[in-house]
Amino acid sequence: MNKKFNVPRGTSDILPKEVFTWEYVEKEARQLLRNYGYNEIRTPIFEKSELFVRSVGQTSDIVQKQMLNLSFQGFVEKYQFDEIGLDSGDVFKKLIENGWAEKISPTQIRLKSYLFEGKVIGEMKKVFEDDEVLDKILFPQYYTSLSLRPEGTASIVRAYIQNNFDRLERLSKFFYIGPMFRGERPQKGRLRQFHQIGAEAIGPESCSPYLDAEIIALSVAILKALGLSDFNLKLNSLGDEEDKENFSKYLKKELKPVSGNFCSNCQRRYRLNVLRVLDCNNKDCQAIVDGLDIHDAHLSDKSREYFKEVCGALDRLKVSYEIFPKLVRGLDYYTHTVFEISAPSLGSQDALGAGGRYSNLVSQLGGPDVDAVGFALGIERILLAMPKGDVEAGKLNVFIIALDEKSFLKAFALLHQLRDADVSGDMSYRISSMKSQMRLANKKGAGHVIILGEAEMQKGEVTIKNMESGDQAVESINNIKTIKNIILNQ
Ligand code: HAM
Repeated sequence: MNKKFNVPRGTSDILPKEVFTWEYVEKEARQLLRNYGYNEIRTPIFEKSELFVRSVGQTSDIVQKQMLNLSFQGFVEKYQFDEIGLDSGDVFKKLIENGWAEKISPTQIRLKSYLFEGKVIGEMKKVFEDDEVLDKILFPQYYTSLSLRPEGTASIVRAYIQNNFDRLERLSKFFYIGPMFRGERPQKGRLRQFHQIGAEAIGPESCSPYLDAEIIALSVAILKALGLSDFNLKLNSLGDEEDKENFSKYLKKELKPVSGNFCSNCQRRYRLNVLRVLDCNNKDCQAIVDGLDIHDAHLSDKSREYFKEVCGALDRLKVSYEIFPKLVRGLDYYTHTVFEISAPSLGSQDALGAGGRYSNLVSQLGGPDVDAVGFALGIERILLAMPKGDVEAGKLNVFIIALDEKSFLKAFALLHQLRDADVSGDMSYRISSMKSQMRLANKKGAGHVIILGEAEMQKGEVTIKNMESGDQAVESINNIKTIKNIILNQ
């Protein structure tokens, strides 16, 4: 027997009967996003890996463990060198001049693994006298490879910079709906391909506490419009880069005596990005962190004032929240306001959405020095938490029943005339009994059926039956306008 294939782990097919619910979610969200002045942007689903490394952060779980990189077969070496602006000929000429040619195989991959034997890295440095060039050779995956997008913010910022939006307007408001990819261990609510509804407000005039409040209120409004009510909003402020630095120093100092008791992940986090320790799901790590006295001491007066204004604006909009000083988020780019919305009914993967301000990302990615704030909601988790059974499946306006070969040709032509006149319709492409075709019409939820048999053909008429009331009408087969009218209005 031939091998059958299943979807890759952590992904799923969205079947036609589910698509109606997806369309409903997307329609409600689009409507609200537009009401709030956000315009849709569609970016590629893959970008240079380096974009994500430099925005989401080298030490984040996403970059460390979850990036789905695309691999190209063939020409890897040439492609990689070209992409990073190095001429492969030059690289190897330098290697030959320095007596490396005999030592290494001229394939980039081998070169890398050879160089990884630490002892030669120092010598290589002498050859290239430029850390960045060496970095590019040692870690070409970050400079040359492409990754499926793990989130939307980095791509939107890239598009903002590339298209010079700062020269076009003082504040750009974007939204996006689409798939994201993270190589996580799949479980309920945690997928490798999932979908987000997100919004980002970027520009010289985006630094306003009212915009933070708007972004938070908008994400809440979308959830409410979809019938969700049982969720909590956690809010915190990380402050600016200097405040974050102070926060890190405080945590390093406080956690030093107990850092040996952390899980192996947090031992690394403690060294590289101590804020992440606050995010760990491990119970032992959480217990250690719970013992800390974390409040807003790291915030400057200015940052504290800003956060107070965000809270005030939310109060005015009657959005309820809980200030949660341990909320730091797992992505590097945040500054000032961060928030997370969770639904207790979802169990361990309970975050419906999250977001916050990122004051420095645009400039860090080579763009102008402008602020930004945004959020993303996870569609699959919204669907898990949404009240069931509200969305009506799409229905057909009409189902045409042909009872013999001759009527079939006429029915087929009529079906196309009606479709061209914006009536949704279908038919069976095999002639069968009236009873079985009626059953099919019912299954498809057709509002009306048109019956065409020998008698109708002789008179040049069709019988139109309302499936709900049972009312019947007879009409000339050529009178498309009247047939349409009956189907759509009676
Ligand atoms: P995030 O917290 O990584 O933030 O993801 C936002 C939401 O996407 C999560 O709350 C969750 O609902 C959903 N999500 C994330 N990973 C998965 C997964 N593996 N399976 C199913 N759903 C998932 C961001 O992505 C930021 N870009 C949000 C943002 C926008 N910040 C500023 N602007």
